[in-house]
Amino acid sequence: MEVDGARIFVPGATGELGSALARCLHSRGAVLHLAGRDETALRTLRGQLPGVWTSTFDAYELDACAALTRRAAERMGGLDAVVTCVGVPAFGPADHISDAVAEHLMTVNAQAPIAFLRAALPLMEPGGVLAALTGVVAGNPPPHMADYAAAKAALAAWLEAVGKEQRRRHVALIDLRLPHIDTGFADRAIAGRPPHLPPGLPVAAAVESVMAALVDARTVSGRAS
Ligand SMILES: NC(=O)c1ccc[n+]([C@@H]2O[C@H](COP(=O)([O-])OP(=O)(O)OC[C@H]3O[C@@H](n4cnc5c(N)ncnc54)[C@H](OP(=O)(O)O)[C@@H]3O)[C@@H](O)[C@H]2O)c1
Repeated sequence: MEVDGARIFVPGATGELGSALARCLHSRGAVLHLAGRDETALRTLRGQLPGVWTSTFDAYELDACAALTRRAAERMGGLDAVVTCVGVPAFGPADHISDAVAEHLMTVNAQAPIAFLRAALPLMEPGGVLAALTGVVAGNPPPHMADYAAAKAALAAWLEAVGKEQRRRHVALIDLRLPHIDTGFADRAIAGRPPHLPPGLPVAAAVESVMAALVDARTVSGRAS
């Protein structure tokens, strides 16, 4: 896709990867609607990135997530891409993870991203791109991350299946399957403590790979890692 002038909705833009991606997309001429939970972080982004629209959301309000996609498209005068950067981890053996934590992980990592992307489907024109940050855990689930990995795998499966559905419409669904990145994400776990992790990919390198996947987006479901 051509990033310059593209109208792009970024849920999760208040996070480390989402905000770095938003800055990069803005520098390349994209028209942006940024969404996050943290109003202070959104205010900072508005100050840094002239002309962007912003909105708050909570991942638990799935109807509101879907409505926000439609509002973003209205404000921008159309929608060329959605890149969802929403997520939260938890760590520990499966029998130490409560059902409430498991539900939280599935909601934030799978159901909310799917709600944003599903609402975008009828709004997309040929050449449109719908993308989500999943993670290598989607295809290679490690111990002590079963529910987080299961949620990312659910999102990845949805992207793959819908990519097949959308092929004739020339709308690309992209599974951004990133490795461990140095964002402090693991330290924001809602339960458990992360294992010792080797140094991750720098944020700039992760954003570069996301940008490459968006630019190269083909009209089939793709996976970028
Ligand atoms: N960092 C890694 O190693 C890594 C590797 C592979 C994939 N990923 C994926 O990349 C994405 C971004 O990760 P990151 O490292 O940038 O983490 P991050 O800085 O913690 O960003 C997480 C984002 O998710 C949002 N979020 C979390 N819970 C939410 C909720 N209940 N309602 C609304 N928004 C919520 C946060 O919003 P607020 O900040 O506004 O609260 C933030 O925008 C995630 O999907 C993650 O799974 C990360």
